[in-house]
Amino acid sequence: MAKATTRHRCLDCGATTVRWVGRCPSCGEWNSLVAEAALDPLVQAVDALDLAAPVPLGEVDPLAAAAVPSGVAEFDRVLSGGLVPGSATLLGGEPGIGKSTLLLQVLRSRAADGARVLLVSAEESAHQVRLRAERLGPVPASLLVLAATELETVAAALAATEPALVVVDSVQAVSAGSSTGGGAGAGPAGPPGTVAQVRAVADRLVSLAKRQNVALVLVGHVTKDGGLAGPRTLEHLVDTVLSFEGDRHHALRLLRAVKHRFGPTGELGLFEMGDQGLTPVADPGRLLLGDRVTGVPGGIVLPAVEGRRTLLVEVQALVTPMAQAQPKRSVVGLDGSRLAMVLAVLARHAGLPALVADVFASVAGGVRVLEPAADLALGLAVASAIAGVPLPADAAAVGEIGLAGEVRQVTALARRLEECARLGFHRIVVPRSAPSGPRGVELVRVDTLGAALAALGLAGSGLDSAGPSPGGGPGPGTIAP
Ligand code: TYD
Ligand code: MG
Repeated sequence: MAKATTRHRCLDCGATTVRWVGRCPSCGEWNSLVAEAALDPLVQAVDALDLAAPVPLGEVDPLAAAAVPSGVAEFDRVLSGGLVPGSATLLGGEPGIGKSTLLLQVLRSRAADGARVLLVSAEESAHQVRLRAERLGPVPASLLVLAATELETVAAALAATEPALVVVDSVQAVSAGSSTGGGAGAGPAGPPGTVAQVRAVADRLVSLAKRQNVALVLVGHVTKDGGLAGPRTLEHLVDTVLSFEGDRHHALRLLRAVKHRFGPTGELGLFEMGDQGLTPVADPGRLLLGDRVTGVPGGIVLPAVEGRRTLLVEVQALVTPMAQAQPKRSVVGLDGSRLAMVLAVLARHAGLPALVADVFASVAGGVRVLEPAADLALGLAVASAIAGVPLPADAAAVGEIGLAGEVRQVTALARRLEECARLGFHRIVVPRSAPSGPRGVELVRVDTLGAALAALGLAGSGLDSAGPSPGGGPGPGTIAP
């Protein structure tokens, strides 16, 4: 039985309402509601088919949603096992970061296991895909490729080949074809590339995947502001949202689950992009700290935690005279509001004058460390930069800083300390209540940021006076009285 078709859907956020209103009650956008009947009659037909009777929960087979490992270990780790048949996954990332390469490796690996898999390449020709595959190794016979941009062609190929896994690269390049629309030119959901179009295409593909019980992966390009084009609309359509990140000028790539209906989202996958595609990174410390220069002011190592992984990164700070009328605060890979807070605490509680200077802080390697546990390392890096005094090369620091200048406990401290010890960082500044560390490690327990500065020899070396340290090179800039 078909449902009443008076529902309206917001083209911006995808929320539905039972009647038309001028402003979307969910996202607040004006004039964004369109009758679903006008949006895509086929989606509705599928919706109607999906009306099923309730069943006792106890009779539902829990193994029906078992993940199938792809064989690409870091990919499986993030998905807590692998892709689930009948599920939809969205892989987002900036152009050129390696989405197509990663998925081609996943397809190859599954095909090498004998599974029939399909790559729908809407952006590259079959020839281009073959050239890329060539770099990655032999191509298994059960890896099929379809170079197409029409949704109807994709649906027909899915029905004809019945693959175990289908990758659509990218969802933005597929058009909800002309045959479903009543008019000429654009499809029923507007011109290709628009939010409505991307949404309609994804909607259809997800429905098809569910019906055929095929694992579907959609590639989505991320726009400059970090949102998936066809923004939040796709995120609640799919079961899993993966984000592939990294610095294009650096080999390290990070895979995260932003949303995952079949497991936890905290896990992090690490890859290195090389000549033969992506290889798993077992020891990220080598990549992240490989180019570190010691004996220079403004840097200290931080044991950061993401998911079940500990990443040793270097937090760096640079303080320079103001280039413009306003002091500039700039962060790369760190949380800008935490930098502002740490600067305020340094000024108010750690004996530093308020900084009238430009402050730059960063974490190298394309890693993002947004956890408050980075505060202490950030505070020490800034103080070291101001004083022009390098911190000990084998020192690390971890701790959250409170507004009163106190250093607070962080999660997974034991694990962080072990990773520091393993990579040769033997002097670790930690909150006073920290558990005892591994053997060979000297814990410097501090209860305030000021105490941390004193413990590392920063207090009194240019910090207490209202100016740069004498002989500290070009100096840290202008410091207000
Ligand atoms: P690609 O997977 O095409 O990125 P996306 O699909 O996210 O746009 O890969 C982008 C870059 O990776 C490209 O500049 C070439 C590089 N690359 C390698 O360095 N090694 C390789 O083996 C492959 C296949 C690509
Ligand atoms: Mg691509």
